[in-house]
Formats: sequence, structure tokens, C-alpha cells
Amino acid sequence: MDGELVPWEQAKIHISTNALHYGSAVFEGIRGYYHEGEIYVFKLREHIRRLIDSARIVMLRNRYTERELVDATILTLRENRYSTNVYIRPIIYAGENVMTLDIAEVPVRAAILTFPLDKFFKKFGLRVGVSSWRRLPDTSMPPRAKAAANYLNSMLATREARMAGFDEAILLDQSGFVSEGPGENIFLVKDGVLSTPPASSAILEGITRGTVMTLARDLGYQVVERQISRVELYTADELFFTGTAVEIQPIIEVDGRAVGDGQPGPVTRRIYDLYQRVVRGQEHRYRSWLTPVYGR
Ligand SMILES: Cc1ncc(COP(=O)(O)O)c(C=O)c1O
Repeated sequence: MDGELVPWEQAKIHISTNALHYGSAVFEGIRGYYHEGEIYVFKLREHIRRLIDSARIVMLRNRYTERELVDATILTLRENRYSTNVYIRPIIYAGENVMTLDIAEVPVRAAILTFPLDKFFKKFGLRVGVSSWRRLPDTSMPPRAKAAANYLNSMLATREARMAGFDEAILLDQSGFVSEGPGENIFLVKDGVLSTPPASSAILEGITRGTVMTLARDLGYQVVERQISRVELYTADELFFTGTAVEIQPIIEVDGRAVGDGQPGPVTRRIYDLYQRVVRGQEHRYRSWLTPVYGR
């Protein structure tokens, strides 16, 4: 926290913290994978760069360099001596002083919290529903920034989906095109071609999304970024979510309609299998995406 290592129980902030009242924070979600005595942090620099960009968008005066945040992340993991998969949550936030809506008037604070995390969803294959909530437009809020306040939109969609008996939601953008999940990007497979909504569909440009685009192309698939209409979801051969937390997660049903034969499809499985090897350092070609923590 602000440059100090603090035990979990003592990692507290003041109740007047502006970010608690107004969501004035930007954050990241990063994974580290444990494999044969090493933890590999996946695309650490890319995540830290996105964090710094998010701060720039919302005008939080971040005091730390990319290098400092990368080093602090590695130090925090090392000190915890994890021998499990881990989740890393850096956050830059507006500190004490609730009585202002001017982000320039608050002290800016930063922290990195880490904890063990294995699978996000226990099941492989989700039943999803299209939300009545639209993804927030970047004429109102910047979905491209990973800003805390944006996540109320995601939480409304998640609760609505769960109340309707679904595992997860899909949000449409303001024009009615498919945008993304509450914390995931989405891919559609049709006739061997992968499609995913473009940045202009109010998405967070996911790092897993970029990874999957590269892996799929390397596997010989055509990948296109294009607007996707809701009804295309109903006739897709395969659908899957991507995200740091959910990794590659098949969607087996949308709005009560089975996707393909209602089982995770072959393209999704192939990309899932490759991704699981890549993040554990088992694919030499992609080793530059990994930062080893212990360096043994
Ligand atoms: C709204 C939203 N979209 C997409 C993603 C996927 O992004 P990434 O693959 O960088 O984790 C996330 C998760 O970080 C998210 O919160």
C-alpha cells in the first residue's frame, strides 16, 4: 500500500476515501500461474500499461512508473511465497476527502493486493442471457478505462442474469449490437471464422481477447473484429467468453437456445487447451508473455 508491504488484516483505508463514495478508482486483474515451482505472471507489463492508461483517462494523478508497479507486483508475490495460482489486483484510487467531485483535489493512493485463486467459474460451459441493461456508452463513461465506477453497470447485469437463472449476462451496446459480458469479452465462431466485437462496441479491450486473437490466427483461423447482432448469437456454431478471471469459458446456451449441440465446441476447446499451456510456460514460442516470480 503506497509503497509499503502491509499484512492483509492491517490493509485498511479511511471511511472518507473518495473512491468508496464515487467509484473514483482504476484497477487491474492479473493472473499468475503456478507450474513446477515457478509462478508465471501473464502479460504483466501489458496490464500495468493499461492501468496507467486508465488513470490517464479518468485523470487520477498516478505517481508510479510502469517499472515501479511491475517490481512492486513481483515483490508482493515473492514475499507471500505462494505455491498456488494467484490473482493480482493493483488499484490506484482517490483517497481521503469525500467532499469533492474534482479528482484533482484528492490525494492519489495505490495498492497491490494478491491472493490465491484457481478457477473463477466451477463449471466449464455457461448458460447466459442477454441483459436488459445496456453496456455504458463512452459518451457517458469510458468503458475502455478499467474504472471502478463502470462496474456498477456490470453488477446490475450480473444480478439480473442470476435472478433469471443464468450463469452470466451478455450486454448489448447502445445501438443494440453485442458488446461484452460483465467482466469478459465475447467471441463467436461460425463456419470456422472467429468474430469479436470491435472497440467501438463499448468494450474493455481485453488482454485475453488480444491473446486469443493471436493464438487463433497462429492456429490458422481467420479472426475478425466486427459488429455482431444479437440474433447471430442464436445461430453461432460456438460462443465463448475471454477474460483474465474466466480465462476461456465456453457459452453453451443463450436466451434458452443451445449453442451448437449444447456442448463446448472443438474450436473453443482447442484455444482453451493452448491457452492453459501458454500461461504455464509450456509453449516456448509465447514465453515472452510471462514474467517468472521466483526466477529459479
Ligand atoms: C468489462 C470487462 N471486459 C472484458 C474483460 C476482459 O479483460 P482481460 O482479458 O484484460 O482480463 C474484463 C476483465 O478484466 C472486464 O472487466
